[in-house]
Amino acid sequence: MLCVLRVVFYFNVLFCYCCHGYFNENYGFGIEYQWVYLNYTWPSPAHYQWAISTKTYIPQNNAPVGIKIYRNLLFVSIPRFREGIPATLTVLDRLTASRTNPLLTPYPSWSANGISNCHGLQSIQSMEVDTRGIMWIIDGVRINNLTTCPPKLVLLDLNNDGRLVHSYVFKPEISLGQGGFLNDLVVEDVDGGYAYITDNSGIDPGIIVYSRRKNRAWKLRDGSMFAERRASNFAVADVAFNNSVPVDGIALSPKTINGERILYYCALTSFTLYSILTNVIRDEDNLNSGSWRNFVTPVGTLTSQVDGIAIDSQANMYFTLLPLYGVGRWNLNDPLESTQMIHQDPRTTIWPDGFAFDQEGVLYVISNQVFRYIDPRSTPPINSNVKFRILGTFIGTRSYLYG
Ligand SMILES: *[C@@H]1O[C@H](CO)[C@@H](O)[C@H](O)[C@H]1NC(C)=O
Ligand SMILES: *[C@@H]1O[C@H](CO)[C@@H](O)[C@H](O)[C@H]1NC(C)=O
Ligand SMILES: *[C@@H]1O[C@H](CO)[C@@H](O)[C@H](O)[C@H]1NC(C)=O
Repeated sequence: MLCVLRVVFYFNVLFCYCCHGYFNENYGFGIEYQWVYLNYTWPSPAHYQWAISTKTYIPQNNAPVGIKIYRNLLFVSIPRFREGIPATLTVLDRLTASRTNPLLTPYPSWSANGISNCHGLQSIQSMEVDTRGIMWIIDGVRINNLTTCPPKLVLLDLNNDGRLVHSYVFKPEISLGQGGFLNDLVVEDVDGGYAYITDNSGIDPGIIVYSRRKNRAWKLRDGSMFAERRASNFAVADVAFNNSVPVDGIALSPKTINGERILYYCALTSFTLYSILTNVIRDEDNLNSGSWRNFVTPVGTLTSQVDGIAIDSQANMYFTLLPLYGVGRWNLNDPLESTQMIHQDPRTTIWPDGFAFDQEGVLYVISNQVFRYIDPRSTPPINSNVKFRILGTFIGTRSYLYG
């Protein structure tokens, strides 16, 4: 019965979009990598046996979330949503990895991914790579008791085998060690480098601004970062959602003619996209006076609930359209309502989560059914179906960092 309802809903939506002239271009997203289960390049068969027998590795509990690319390396994060995740930051080599069930190699090492000491990488959802090859990593999934380490921002030098460049621990008034959820980030190469980070915490949601030069972080909290009740109900595959999920997607524009950049963000269960100039929020004095709120701008209405968003060097924003099993594209210079669906496939694109750009003009999106993993009440499936896919398509542009 549920299934029938869902199919009708799906075709209604599809019909609706056809009427509005959407879906007229096929961007040809193809499957680049796919997994039934995640598995790793273990140091030895004995290590693998030990990890299985001690439940350090529970294959069905591992789900990939964040993806980013540097040269031939594809980085994949695996947040510790559940037990049995042996590494939270991993890499595969695009030149040699197999396309089906490629093994993941912990990055920069197995020991750096150890959960037993707080200097190690604990639970990572997202990362970004700046134009110098420094990876900015948010180690801040703190929605369970699997780690008690405070959330942190970690900078690794990808040109030096992931050498640790810097680590910054967030105080609890910025992100909670119990209940914080550093979700996604963008970086800006200005005044020594800034990161803008969404904290999807159900307790204290907001956007964190981090200045590398000042080595300080501050947090923006605003109603625009909360969920909207009208967007709380939607369905993906066989699961109906009735949740309030705050600020999640975050994207940075290329430079405007004034040399400024605009930050875009949205709550997961919301239909409103917001923006703010980064020069407003980089000034901590504006935070203290509250005057920054005058610059928060509602941009328009989104096509559906979205998770990850990303902008390329030509000012095109890409959206993950969760209940539509697809990807939308909008040029920042046009009205948001002109968003086009450039991909839709309910078979391969079950919960498109986030994006990555390579240097050769390909846009990647990961689809990971993350709702089956993140909710402790759900049971991850054990079967031979493909569960995770990285899809790619040629767009001919690079990320916002190069625009
Ligand atoms: C995981 O990979 C190792 C090689 O690193 C292999 O020996 C093992 O059989 C694999 N396990 C599963 C469940 O695929
Ligand atoms: C974490 O542990 C604390 C204290 O034992 C408990 O109150 C809390 O409910 C736990 N949280 C989760 C998400 O399990
Ligand atoms: C969603 O949850 C709210 C509060 O928990 C409840 O009042 C409402 O009836 C629910 N809606 C649906 C469609 O399940």
